[in-house]
Amino acid sequence: MRLQLMTWPEVEAYLEQSVGVIVPIGATEQHGPTGLIGTDAICAETLAWRAGELANAVVGPTLSVGMSEHHMHFPGSVTLRPTTLITVIHDVILSLARHGFRRIFFINGHGGNNPSLDAAFFEAYTEAPQLIEDGDDVRCLTGDWWNMPSAGRLSAEFFGDRDGDHATASEVSLAAAAYPDHVKTADLDPDVPSASRIFGPADFRRRYPEGRMGSHPQLASVEAGTQIIAEVAADLAKEYRKFLTEE
Ligand code: NI
Repeated sequence: MRLQLMTWPEVEAYLEQSVGVIVPIGATEQHGPTGLIGTDAICAETLAWRAGELANAVVGPTLSVGMSEHHMHFPGSVTLRPTTLITVIHDVILSLARHGFRRIFFINGHGGNNPSLDAAFFEAYTEAPQLIEDGDDVRCLTGDWWNMPSAGRLSAEFFGDRDGDHATASEVSLAAAAYPDHVKTADLDPDVPSASRIFGPADFRRRYPEGRMGSHPQLASVEAGTQIIAEVAADLAKEYRKFLTEE
């Protein structure tokens, strides 16, 4: 159930059955010469919509812009400052909590969002009890899709040690399966630098001129993406159910 396609009486009725909600969070940033700018948001929302169906959960609006400062030397990338992103996540949590949601599960498509997610959770835990009766029952959890057991297994199965760290074959496959009419091709350098320490956006572009980090997105396929969506969404739905029932 997508929140944006529901009415308020439907949400009210849902809240009588469940206090859980899934929120997709991604990014709008370069993903190499063949990866869509929206890859991280597309991955998060595609998986969230599927996991929501499997777990009978409401899925909130996609937070499509994340913390992508290190990608800003590639055109098309859009970033929030970490402090802005913390505030956005915090306000989304508090909005949902004010209506009675108590278990807020973020399905995350971008590693650069993790520090802001963690910080926002603790700000919300401090503020919710001041605003809301039983606000100390609010709990938030992040599910990074690439850390699900099936994501690692399928990555090894389809791509061996060539999946990489940014603009990965897995995420490009997933976005290709979601939007098969938008698959892109390019001549990619077969030698791509693997992940290293990075500093600012200029440093990132100098180290990774194509924008990829150790990845071989030319291996991506709709077929791989379709399987990744099915299995990773099932893992995420399982995580969400566990989160709803744990002590
Ligand atoms: Ni990505």
